[in-house]
Amino acid sequence: MSSNLTEQTLTAAVQRTFDDSTDPRFGEVLQCLVEHLHAFAREVRLTGEEWFAAMDFVERVGKASTPTRQEVVLLSDILGLSMLLDKINQHTGSSATDSALLGPFYVEGRPTADNGSDISAGVSGTPMFVTGRVVDERGQPVAGARVDTWHSDGKGYYDVQQTEQLHDQFAMRALLTTDHDGRFWYRSITPRYYPVPTDGPCGEILRAANRSPMRPQHVHFWFTAEGYQPLITQLFWRDDPYIGRDAVFADQDSLMADFVRHEPGIAPDGATVDEPFVTLDWTFTLAAE
Ligand code: BEZ
Ligand code: FE
Repeated sequence: MSSNLTEQTLTAAVQRTFDDSTDPRFGEVLQCLVEHLHAFAREVRLTGEEWFAAMDFVERVGKASTPTRQEVVLLSDILGLSMLLDKINQHTGSSATDSALLGPFYVEGRPTADNGSDISAGVSGTPMFVTGRVVDERGQPVAGARVDTWHSDGKGYYDVQQTEQLHDQFAMRALLTTDHDGRFWYRSITPRYYPVPTDGPCGEILRAANRSPMRPQHVHFWFTAEGYQPLITQLFWRDDPYIGRDAVFADQDSLMADFVRHEPGIAPDGATVDEPFVTLDWTFTLAAE
């Protein structure tokens, strides 16, 4: 017997096919996805031509993706879905530092560094001295926390985007560990705003929408410590011209920091610096597990 489905009855029929899913959560998510996908197609009266163009786009996003070129992640980022998930999964009422996107430039295998190290690996730029403290929600220091940090150079490029100059060497990234007082500190160079990659399918979306691809100046951090929830976040230079229009929507008020400019003189680590330099100081709060 044919099922004689109509525009009105088709959605429920598809949803029912997930009633006996082995994993109830899978069934719930897929039924909701079908509901909203169908509603979306009805609402915009999606044409066959438009859907073929969309499927071709998704295929190209997949084909453009490699371990070092994460076009699928970038699509999630520019559509605001990555930040929405951050917000949905963040514990409300907690004093923990807000999270922000991991982004595509975190890489495994980065070097470990001692506190006080220069992690720039010789890349030239305005010196930046970062001092940080990791505390729990009661303000007590978290000793032995692992602190991954990474950022761009003064032209807005990460080490992985300029392998020819760096000969595959890591730069402006390291894994540090907090001391007994929850402190960590390092020297590097000052990053700059930069565009998200626009030479792939996601660039087509930004251009079609007349959207800026720029991300304001920021430094990435990823904290892990036993007994605490991991924290992936970024600190932004509050005076950056692109604040308020970050292409990936991560530039929230709570993460605005002062990248303070100094004339030549004594740096926070006691070193004498004979050129202007920048300092960044921040206390990060981790939520208990
Ligand atoms: C980043 O901050 O590294 C980043 C995040 C999302 C898209 C592109 C870059
Ligand atoms: Fe970044």
